[in-house]
Parts: sequence; structure tokens; C-alpha cells
Amino acid sequence: MENSLILAWILVLGTAVAVAPCRGYYSDAEPYVPVLKKVTHLHFFLHDTMSGKVPSSVIVARPNMTTSPNDTFGSVVVTDDRLTVGPDVKSEVIGNAQGLWVSSGRDVPCLTVYMDFGFTEGELNGSSISIFSRNPIVGTERELAVVGGRGKFRMAQGYAQLKTYFVNFTSGDAIVEYKVTVIY
Ligand SMILES: *[C@@H]1O[C@H](CO)[C@@H](O)[C@H](O)[C@H]1NC(C)=O
Ligand SMILES: *[C@@H]1O[C@H](CO)[C@@H](O)[C@H](O)[C@H]1NC(C)=O
Ligand SMILES: *[C@@H]1O[C@H](CO)[C@@H](O)[C@H](O)[C@H]1NC(C)=O
Ligand SMILES: *[C@@H]1O[C@H](CO)[C@@H](O)[C@H](O)[C@H]1NC(C)=O
Repeated sequence: MENSLILAWILVLGTAVAVAPCRGYYSDAEPYVPVLKKVTHLHFFLHDTMSGKVPSSVIVARPNMTTSPNDTFGSVVVTDDRLTVGPDVKSEVIGNAQGLWVSSGRDVPCLTVYMDFGFTEGELNGSSISIFSRNPIVGTERELAVVGGRGKFRMAQGYAQLKTYFVNFTSGDAIVEYKVTVIY
């Protein structure tokens, strides 16, 4: 078993060396051969909690001047939000969304989201998708761009369709339904 692994590596490395001679820190450019892509649909709920003793979202920076109590423009929030199969926070946890969002809408409230959605259950354990997108939170339904991924979702692209399931504007707590199409 180990011997055959070593042999496989020798073959792989041998081929790599034959095809792409090393020139210091970079290889020669080669034609990219695309492989057949796969598509997966994901469905889960994100729990963003700003209230309570253990919030999943914390404001780490904000401008030192605001025009009204509702003016959050310029705030930067770091999140580690729970992802569950159902809207109930007690339903099965399948991962977490870590990263940050900034309040980037000057006139119309809007967020720009930089987040890595990591999965911890089943075949997707250890894989994640990267979302980098505008999130126009005033609409109940909105679309975010999936720009990459890790593990099974390496080189992923796609989109996420979001629907607000629950929001409390006083506390800032929200539950958002995600339907994601991932192509990888
Ligand atoms: C905000 O910070 C700037 C630069 O430090 C300072 O000049 C200004 O007075 C501050 N404004 C308020 C409302 O604290
Ligand atoms: C702040 O937001 C609340 C709820 O959306 C709204 O009723 C209120 O008029 C807003 N206040 C200001 C000063 O914009
Ligand atoms: C997910 O992967 C981690 C790291 O490999 C492992 O510790 C954990 O037990 C796995 N969880 C499940 C549910 O398979
Ligand atoms: C919304 O949040 C406020 C402040 O945390 C709380 O007093 C209120 O009960 C919440 N409302 C709902 C419907 O959860």
C-alpha cells in the first residue's frame, strides 16, 4: 500500500517535472485543461446574533461621527455565525460563517460581506465556500456572489439566494435562509 503510494508519487512528480520544468520559483505556462464541473445545491439558515452575553457578531470599528442613531454607515462587524439545517437555532448545526461585513450603504442601508462559510458535517466537513458580495439588506430577497471555496469546493463559483426569515431591528439579531448553487 505504502509502496504503491510512493510509486504513484514518483510517477506524479516525474510527470510534473517532465511537463513543467522549474525555473526557480515559477513553472513554464501550460495550457489549462478544464475538467467537467459539478453543481451542488445547499440549503441552510444563518443565525446572526448581536444581542446577549455571547453575540455571534461584534462591532469592531465605527466612525466617530454619525448623523442619526440609525446611521451605521462605516461600521465593521466580525462574525462567527452558526449555520443550521432549519430556522430553529436548536436544529442541527452544519457549520459556521466566519468573516466580516461592513455597513457600506451611504443612503440606502447595505452591507458588503466578506465571509467564509465552513461546513462541519457529513461529506462537506472541512469544505467551505467564500462569499464576497454586496448584500442589499433592505430587500427581503437578495443574491450574493460565491467567489471561491476550499476542500470539495476548491475553485468554486456560484451564487447564494437569501431570504430574511426573522429580523429584530432593535437588537440587530437576524435569521437568514440561504439557498446556494455552487459550481466547482
Ligand atoms: C473624530 O476624529 C477626528 C480625528 O481624530 C477628530 O478631529 C474629530 O474631532 C472626531 N470627532 C468627534 C465627533 O469626536
Ligand atoms: C430609525 O429607524 C426606525 C426603524 O426603522 C425608524 O422608525 C426611525 O424613524 C428611524 N429614525 C431616524 C432618525 O432615521
Ligand atoms: C470533521 O472533521 C474534523 C477534522 O478532520 C474532525 O475532527 C471531526 O470529527 C469531523 N466531524 C464529523 C462530524 O465528521
Ligand atoms: C427585539 O430586541 C429587543 C432588544 O434586545 C427586545 O427587547 C425585543 O423583545 C426583541 N423583539 C423580538 C420580537 O424578539
